[in-house]
Amino acid sequence: MAIPLAGVSIPMKNQASREPVRCALVGLGRIGSILEEDPLREKPATHAGAIQAHPDCKLVAGCDRDGDRCAAFAVRWKVAAIYRDLRTMLGESQPDLLHIATPPEHHLEAVRCAVAQRVPVVVCEKPLAPTRAEAMKLVSLARRGGVRVMVNHERRFCVDWRHVRSVIQEKPLGDLESIRATLYMGEHRRAGEMLLDDGTHLIDALRFITGGEFKRIRAWGDARKRGGTLWAAFTLAGIPGVLEVGGGRDHFVFEAELSFARGRVRVGNGVFEQWESRPSPHYRGARSLALREDLKFPVTGYFANMVSAAVGLVRDPKAPIESKATDGLAAVSIIEKILGAIQKT
Ligand SMILES: NC(=O)c1ccc[n+]([C@@H]2O[C@H](COP(=O)([O-])OP(=O)(O)OC[C@H]3O[C@@H](n4cnc5c(N)ncnc54)[C@H](O)[C@@H]3O)[C@@H](O)[C@H]2O)c1
Repeated sequence: MAIPLAGVSIPMKNQASREPVRCALVGLGRIGSILEEDPLREKPATHAGAIQAHPDCKLVAGCDRDGDRCAAFAVRWKVAAIYRDLRTMLGESQPDLLHIATPPEHHLEAVRCAVAQRVPVVVCEKPLAPTRAEAMKLVSLARRGGVRVMVNHERRFCVDWRHVRSVIQEKPLGDLESIRATLYMGEHRRAGEMLLDDGTHLIDALRFITGGEFKRIRAWGDARKRGGTLWAAFTLAGIPGVLEVGGGRDHFVFEAELSFARGRVRVGNGVFEQWESRPSPHYRGARSLALREDLKFPVTGYFANMVSAAVGLVRDPKAPIESKATDGLAAVSIIEKILGAIQKT
């Protein structure tokens, strides 16, 4: 079920009676389909799951170069139109919406196919491309070809991250003073790979909530060694921040800690805390932070709201794109700047 979000075009209930939005999916792997079977994840958790759960959408076709994945997908989602070749799928199924859930190296080629077949709207997985140069080509190709690309940086569609954005904008805790972001996504991984793979979400989410740009980037550490850690310091919207990305931990952490003049927020995977300044129970005449126990976001709506936003783009060609290809390009550019800055130190 989609959660209504300010600023995101969500279809009205009676829109279900309109012509369905024809959705096709390329990449029938983990985020395309398979993670829907994870009993612990918030559902829907995949493109196929979110498309099928949306009252306006019809999953008309799927494509993967792997035959076993095609077969499993056809059974799981009861889709008969299965292809091994993207051009053929697009030519025959004529979708309104193409979901690209292949590895980043294939995103540019997939958008090229969408342009050739005049698919009006594409949802493209992150990172937009493996390099800034390729992301720039993708942005320009889509612009010239008239394809509207929305990047699945799904924090933009999560109610918890959107709440944090409103805390920054409306200032109930005063001004944002500093940012600390942390990313540990696999014990034996390289920090550089993690930064591109998962860090693209974190960088985009920080740009989204602050509405600002990363500047004055400096970085240290080891991006290439398995289990290594890297640090980056920056300003974002003029606010000082640090980012730590590391292997060597046996647990996942994806979070931002935001320090405000009168409070603190922690937001990330499986964590939301809003702390507010109150008269201290520990020190006379001082103030301490107290946790708002009443403020929780057990359901974020991440995939459901993302698909609703994509449906809004199909229904209204003039609707603004919440997570633009240029935002995806910005994230990849910042990542390259961080990695380049390490090499200079
Ligand atoms: N938004 C998220 O939270 C999230 C989570 C996981 C992965 N992702 C992203 O989604 C993308 C896919 O990741 P994944 O973990 O699902 O990978 P995966 O390997 O499980 O699935 C990718 C699928 O694409 C298929 N494929 C590759 N090249 C193809 C081609 N040319 N034509 C047709 N099929 C092709 C592969 O056979 C595979 O089945 C990546 O960009 C990844 O970064 C996003």
